[in-house]
Amino acid sequence: MTNDPATPSDPAADEAVLRGALPIEIHGRLRSARIVERRAIVVAEAGDLGAKARTELEELIQSALGQLAQIDEVRVALIADRRRRMIIAVGSGKGGVGKSTLTTNLAVALARKGRKVGVIDGDIYGPSQPRLLATERMKPETQGDKLVPVTSPHGVKVLSMGHVVAPGKALAWRGPMAGKALGQLVDAAWGDTELLMIDLPPGTGDVQLSMMADSKPDGAVLVSTPQDLALLDAARAGQLFEDGEVPIIGLVENMAGYECPECGHISDPFGSGGVEKFATALEIPFLGRVPLTMQTRLSGDAGTPPAAADDNGAQPFLAIAERIDRWLTNGAV
Ligand SMILES: Nc1ncnc2c1ncn2[C@@H]1O[C@H](COP(=O)(O)OP(=O)(O)OP(=O)(O)O)[C@@H](O)[C@H]1O
Ligand SMILES: [Mg+2]
Repeated sequence: MTNDPATPSDPAADEAVLRGALPIEIHGRLRSARIVERRAIVVAEAGDLGAKARTELEELIQSALGQLAQIDEVRVALIADRRRRMIIAVGSGKGGVGKSTLTTNLAVALARKGRKVGVIDGDIYGPSQPRLLATERMKPETQGDKLVPVTSPHGVKVLSMGHVVAPGKALAWRGPMAGKALGQLVDAAWGDTELLMIDLPPGTGDVQLSMMADSKPDGAVLVSTPQDLALLDAARAGQLFEDGEVPIIGLVENMAGYECPECGHISDPFGSGGVEKFATALEIPFLGRVPLTMQTRLSGDAGTPPAAADDNGAQPFLAIAERIDRWLTNGAV
């Protein structure tokens, strides 16, 4: 089909030609596609995309339509009608300091504040969110080529490799594949979810690096126990986010102080106050501390997050969630 002045232009046919030349995955984003004097003018929705993905989308449209014989020039306008979905990564560097527990409970606490929250289990090899959010036997459906997250009893949506593959199966995957798997979880049919919290695996490996490249978080929450070693690892994780230009929302101290359920004596198995001092020294906001309690441990195994309860156990999580809520609204805690 040509579009020279001798041929009256047919907007519907032009749009069909342009659509036909674009990959089907992005059809949902097209708001309009016209041809005016051998120029393709495309308006596409990109409000939910980060800077890198927007550039990629624009380049994709440019190169696909630029190849059409009847087009000399491609103009792309990206619009943002949909509110952009925010991504917060929860990381620590060190294993076992409570990233997963904190992700679950902060997500539940933020949902209690009215946010529409989704949790992504970034721990591809050792998923824990299905258990923490009591969705172990649920299987995500698919919508086209996208996974549909499952909804936990606490109103938080969640997706984990644990929902998709048999236990232990992902263990054979090499690093790049794990990174790709995380990309699929992020790129799922999250619907009206406004905030995604990614529970990262320990360390600063492939999954973290590919996340930074493909679905760069808007902010990161660092978790540490008061131990010096955990703090050093938290600093390394912090560096990873800084290198990737991901703002650090703040540092949480987990397993701070232990109250003996028998005698009430409070002890500090991992030291005390160190995380706050450390945060001050690094000029990172200190978001609060979560005590080491039997309830938190047991409720993790039982899939009953303390943040969902109406007792004191929810308080530390609600207080930290309050600050994250503020960050989401104002960009400052
Ligand atoms: N505040 C707490 N009080 C008591 N137990 C806790 C607390 N936080 C975490 N735990 C327990 O510590 C263990 C490790 O926690 P969790 O799995 O959340 O850590 P993680 O940093 O995600 O670990 P990994 O690096 O393996 O992913 C779990 O058994 C959890 O129930
Ligand atoms: Mg974990």
